[in-house]
Amino acid sequence: MKIGILGLGKMGEALAHGIRASGDGKAWKIEATTHSKESASRAGKALRIPVHTDNAKLAKNCDVIILCVKPHQAEAVLTEIADAITKKKLVISVAASITNAQMEEWLGHGCATIRSMPNTPALIREGMTVLAPGREASPAQLKAAERIFATVGRTSVVEERLMDGVTGLSGCGPAYVYLIAEALSEAGVKVGLPRATATLLAAQTLMGAAKMVLERGVHPAALKDEVTTPAGCTIDGLMALEEGKLRVTLIKAVLAAAEKSERLRSEA
Ligand SMILES: NC(=O)c1ccc[n+]([C@@H]2O[C@H](COP(=O)([O-])OP(=O)(O)OC[C@H]3O[C@@H](n4cnc5c(N)ncnc54)[C@H](OP(=O)(O)O)[C@@H]3O)[C@@H](O)[C@H]2O)c1
Repeated sequence: MKIGILGLGKMGEALAHGIRASGDGKAWKIEATTHSKESASRAGKALRIPVHTDNAKLAKNCDVIILCVKPHQAEAVLTEIADAITKKKLVISVAASITNAQMEEWLGHGCATIRSMPNTPALIREGMTVLAPGREASPAQLKAAERIFATVGRTSVVEERLMDGVTGLSGCGPAYVYLIAEALSEAGVKVGLPRATATLLAAQTLMGAAKMVLERGVHPAALKDEVTTPAGCTIDGLMALEEGKLRVTLIKAVLAAAEKSERLRSEA
């Protein structure tokens, strides 16, 4: 499989790194484009892959093209590569709010497309990527997309109508968690811990608890019950969180970001 990354910015580079570091990826060839010759030359040297600025050539050379430009640039670049996209090729977009129908329209009807939403922990191969196949993507093409994104973390497949919600949850979610880590670190400083120790305690606690949810496969509420001793310390902490409306605040954050993802389409 030959993979073309169209737009080797932050997300494109994370993908290129992940693919090259994975067992599967070693057998795949990667080529990429950027807008400017300077960034092509810099990224090509850093990643040791062919990077240039000719999007049509990239589309001709590759079986799978991953669109990693900003959403407002998607129409122009897809129109630019449309002639090179045959029915056998697959175009996967990571651009927030760009739909499969828009991609099909810009590429010409009948092209296989997948809309995806990765997140930035892909940089350290702990990403969460959600995929929504378009009408023309075959089961084999969806499998290929899952294998590609599995090189940078976990994957999940949903119906496309859910993708704005996905953007609000796992796409934007790392920022919410950084805010929580920052607040817990502040709390550590408040109770007298050195800043570095407080941040370590906060981050490792978030990671350990997240791994418990993933690996034990039980509802988070059951895990919360396990650590909440009657009349102990945790229940007092939980009461303070309930008073501060933490749960409803997080739910509102996801809804606000999901609504913005929906609005981005009408604003474009
Ligand atoms: N970052 C995130 O957290 C995140 C999460 C999920 C999804 N996404 C999506 O990922 C996409 C990219 O985001 P990013 O943060 O990686 O952006 P970025 O760092 O700004 O990268 C954009 C890349 O696109 C290149 N580019 C621009 N116009 C081009 C053209 N006409 N032909 C070829 N390449 C072109 C740029 O090249 P130059 O460097 O030469 O300008 C740059 O390499 C966005 O659509 C975003 O919605 C991002």
